Amino acid sequence: MKKKIAVLPGDGIGREVTAEGRRVLTEIGKAFGHSFEFREGIIGHEAIEKTGVALPDQTLEILRTSDAILFGAVGHPKYDNDPSLPVRPEQGLLKMRKELGLYANLRPIRLFDELLPASSIKPEILRGSDILFFRELTGDVYFGERGRMNEGKTAFDVMIYHDYEVERIAHRAFQAAQNRRRKVTSVDKANVLESSRLWRQVVQQVAKSYPDVELEHEFVDAMAMKLIQQPRRFDVVLTGNLFGDILTDAASQIAGSMGLLASASIGDSTGLYEPIHGSAHDITGRGTANPLASILSVALMLETSFGMKQEAEAVVSAVRKTLAAGYRTADIADSATPGKKILNTRGMGDSVVRLLERKTVFAVL
Ligand code: IPM
Ligand code: MG
Repeated sequence: MKKKIAVLPGDGIGREVTAEGRRVLTEIGKAFGHSFEFREGIIGHEAIEKTGVALPDQTLEILRTSDAILFGAVGHPKYDNDPSLPVRPEQGLLKMRKELGLYANLRPIRLFDELLPASSIKPEILRGSDILFFRELTGDVYFGERGRMNEGKTAFDVMIYHDYEVERIAHRAFQAAQNRRRKVTSVDKANVLESSRLWRQVVQQVAKSYPDVELEHEFVDAMAMKLIQQPRRFDVVLTGNLFGDILTDAASQIAGSMGLLASASIGDSTGLYEPIHGSAHDITGRGTANPLASILSVALMLETSFGMKQEAEAVVSAVRKTLAAGYRTADIADSATPGKKILNTRGMGDSVVRLLERKTVFAVL
């Protein structure tokens, strides 16, 4: 197959980890006879410095003419420390989600048994957890009206949902549950918020088309607790934009580390694949970031956008073998990890690529 892939490394460790994701794609192309054409674009802080906006039109044009997008991260401490700056790196990501209609963000919480000790949660609670988050991505307080009043002394951000926005992602979540353990947990704050009451009502309506899937509702505060207390209870979790943002960071502890969580943002056109970790400026430039979230994002791309199941499985299995051999990046190492098994970003990428080269991780070939 021939595919055009847009690569947006972005800011901070985005560049370092995306380079490894891209190498893995190249290797998969060689092994399976696909041709992947890469085109790079700028976004975030880098784009603001060069063009004055966080998502320039040239980048958008590359995205619109690509079959899939591999994205790194956006963000810079300069903006975090100065909330008054009007042009901000995150706007690039939000605009991209909105412009491309990427309304469903899939965040699989996959636990590699080898990493049980890397989590701050007890292994007996974690073992066997397998959750797929469906986070709504183009609505909610992220895109509602916002502003200042009262000479700047009052600020507001409107939390708003339309029924069709809830409906389309709810369908996706129920369909995914049909191929999993047939359970959807919908998260809201319907005891307080009107937008959440609409959310719940629409989800209940959609559920009627999926009688084979069990639906349960949780309030977001209780969910934050239960996710950590009994993660095995959950299969597909359906959330709004803000609640999903918060809960998936917490859920990263179920997978061991943020450095492992990949995500797919999909809608009606080009899919976007990205790690859920951010730009992590504290470790930028040291070459120590964990590239596995980017590499696992590539696996999601292969499967979700291109229907390349075997290729995706080869990537996941190369990651698993690397971990099983005891290799770790600093974020997932513990006191029992021997120094020589702690790899840097490049080293971790090398290990995955070498396994793909040797083809030992291919189910069929
Ligand atoms: C995420 C990030 C983004 C979000 C930021 C960078 C705008 O935290 O993808 O989870 O809030 O959606
Ligand atoms: Mg987030």
